[in-house]
Amino acid sequence: MVNSYNLEDLAYHLKPKAERRQKPLEDGELKSFGKMFTDHMFLINYIGGQWINPRIVPLQPLQIHPAAKVLHYAQTLFEGIKAYMHPDDEVYLFRADMNANRLNNSGNILCMPNIPLEVQLAAYHALIDVDRIWVPRQEDASLYVRPNMFATQAEFGVAPSTTYTLCVTLSPSGSYYPGGFNSPVKLLLTSIYHRVAKSGTGQAKAGGNYAASLRPLEIGRKLGSKQVLFLDSLCESITETGAMNFATINANGQIVTPPFTDEVLAGITATSVLELDGKHGLKVTQKPIRLDEMVDGINSGTITEANGFGTAAVISSVGRIILDPKDPLAKKLMQEGKVTIEDEQPTLKIGNGEVGEVTRHLYDILTGIHRGRIKAPEGWLKKVERNFSD
Ligand code: PLP
Ligand code: COI
Repeated sequence: MVNSYNLEDLAYHLKPKAERRQKPLEDGELKSFGKMFTDHMFLINYIGGQWINPRIVPLQPLQIHPAAKVLHYAQTLFEGIKAYMHPDDEVYLFRADMNANRLNNSGNILCMPNIPLEVQLAAYHALIDVDRIWVPRQEDASLYVRPNMFATQAEFGVAPSTTYTLCVTLSPSGSYYPGGFNSPVKLLLTSIYHRVAKSGTGQAKAGGNYAASLRPLEIGRKLGSKQVLFLDSLCESITETGAMNFATINANGQIVTPPFTDEVLAGITATSVLELDGKHGLKVTQKPIRLDEMVDGINSGTITEANGFGTAAVISSVGRIILDPKDPLAKKLMQEGKVTIEDEQPTLKIGNGEVGEVTRHLYDILTGIHRGRIKAPEGWLKKVERNFSD
């Protein structure tokens, strides 16, 4: 079996043909984000300083030793990539090379081994090729690709593992947020909780960063928010949310997103939006968003829109930023008359709280590129070649 990225020793141990999905997903079958999985997964093991035994096997539970370091010390990282069905009935991966690079960067931060880019890309292409029937054709849906590397050495000493597994699973996914693009989300702004620390692991897609975001996420959910908007360690500037980069849009149409510091993940969606500066009528810049300036800008109307960028979230409009009344920041902003009270919640309503014109335009451009309706910049999309047949 040949595959486009030449992972020559890749073994295919597939489900019998009759047990695999036979037809494309119908509208009623498709679920929201990350709830449905395809027939197969990819596995490769790191043992004795080498990546060995790459294979595509039926999706199945993994066997892991109860002392595996990942289960105790969270030495694990992941990536999120999307593949799209285009009008030519072919499947295209969006900027997976950037994800492969970021996976290795996360590995460096977490003392985990690098995986050559060709190996990662070969795995993604080969697995999608095998399970291509699962790629949704629906407009707001795509195939989400989730590589996940974890430490498998069974030993309780706190030290980097000597062995690892990389597992890649595929999830046909609809919108991340219920209601999709036309339903702006609420974010909880907090000065109490931080997701990552300065000089910490914020530049890694480390499982632990997401675990640390769960407590404020749950507090926010009880208050009706979908994500938490985190401040930097000094509570001076906006960083990002738990699953998206953040941007504000000024009345002159300028999109502003914070620099990728050690407290802001270098998002591939945000990078792509930045690279679209000056194209399709978009004006995009990367500069710090100071908390006080953002609050004043929303109140004075110089900030008219806000949104979140991410592979899962695509471009998500942010209609309102709320605060927990118990948060000292909420008390301060209330005293200063800088928040309104909606449903008993200190609230910053952005513009009229609906999806704004610039956000909609940006969404149309980016999703047009994803789906092959608008010409993509060179190298952004790679066709998943049809190398697999049985
Ligand atoms: N920030 C965080 C914390 C994320 O989890 C994500 C999602 O991957 C992003 C930002 C956006 O990154 P990307 O656009 O690469 O998906
Ligand atoms: C992504 O957008 O790929 C993410 O990783 C965000 C989230 C689902 C954790």
